[in-house]
Amino acid sequence: MSDLDVKKFVEERVKAVKEVLGDEKALIAVSGGVDSTVSAVITHRAIGDNLACAFIDDNFMRLGEPERVKEMLSSPPLNLPVRILRERERFMKALEGLSDAEEKRKAFRETFYQTLGDAARDEGCRFMVQGTIKADIDETTGGIKTQHNILEQIGIDPVERFGFSVVEPIKSLYKYQVREVARFLGAPQAASERQPFPGPGLSLRVVGEITEEKLQQEKLANDAVEAHFEKHDPAQYFAAVLSAEEKSAPEGLRSAVSEVFGIEESEVRVAYLKERGTGMVDGNRTYGRIATFKVKGEALRYGELETARAAIQSMEPGISRVLYHVAGKEGGKYRVAMRAVETRNFLTAEIAKVPHETLKAAADEILEKCSEVVGVYYDITPKPPATVEYE
Ligand code: XMP
Repeated sequence: MSDLDVKKFVEERVKAVKEVLGDEKALIAVSGGVDSTVSAVITHRAIGDNLACAFIDDNFMRLGEPERVKEMLSSPPLNLPVRILRERERFMKALEGLSDAEEKRKAFRETFYQTLGDAARDEGCRFMVQGTIKADIDETTGGIKTQHNILEQIGIDPVERFGFSVVEPIKSLYKYQVREVARFLGAPQAASERQPFPGPGLSLRVVGEITEEKLQQEKLANDAVEAHFEKHDPAQYFAAVLSAEEKSAPEGLRSAVSEVFGIEESEVRVAYLKERGTGMVDGNRTYGRIATFKVKGEALRYGELETARAAIQSMEPGISRVLYHVAGKEGGKYRVAMRAVETRNFLTAEIAKVPHETLKAAADEILEKCSEVVGVYYDITPKPPATVEYE
């Protein structure tokens, strides 16, 4: 049962946007996601063709996404005026050499708004419409991370810095409410039911430093995970790519894992990865170690995996994520983590109990398609203590 009167909400927001914008032109960056789509449709109803919709091709979208999204949004019933801005080099250059999660987010955000500012000037727009929702604001003001679409909340004056004012028509809604509004507006299922995709896109899933090669492996791996996991319909599911480099993990972890599975220590392998991943503990952001473990034979019983995960993290609280080894091959520079979560509001999340056959099939496809991937894992860490995304 919904707690939102959808029809009334839309009427009120259309009226409010019309009052703020009057005869002004506005620009919105659309991604095909439910938040930006709903914001664009509401604004389009308010100001008609004074709204310009830009899809920024930043190189961090999934394979084929720019064209697919443009087609969906500009066709009936939405009929939004969408233009693709080709800006791959600009974004790659801005993120070049950066490996810290928060520095990458900042560089992405700066480039994103500079790009939009340029587009706004080209189109003669003084206003920018954004699909910010309630969780984005809660997490940013709570200090968990800087969501890329929050400006004023973190003390950036968009007029001074980028030359436009921001309008956020759905910032009072949670994700499930945004979906209700999308269905009411007649958005295609591909938009209304689309799994969330973060603004900085795959840049958060190429963990650490981004190179063209690592990004290409990420795109292929992410495609495989989406194709295999879709039938189980988790709230969100994707792949992240990490450097294959490992560091040794404390010995105690191996015996803890072997105890949980009732096997010899020699049948367990535990390692740390070189790169770190974001987490959340007591409402605060962490940037911790990523531990992987491999056990001999097939150990996919979710009860045991959860017990092992909890044991590892209670012994070493600096670990933000635990990855369970699904399949591997010889040689390569990267490892892939598959992630799938169940959640209602994304402030907390459980891992999705994806059947072993699916994990194995997706992992095998990743190993086959991604020439540089040595190992594929399933991330078994809930939020908290991890976050959904890796950065
Ligand atoms: P985390 O990683 O914080 O993610 O547990 C919670 C949800 O938010 C999405 N997410 C973002 N969405 N801009 C967005 O539009 C961002 O910067 C961003 N960071 C995370 C994430 O995909 C998940 O659904």
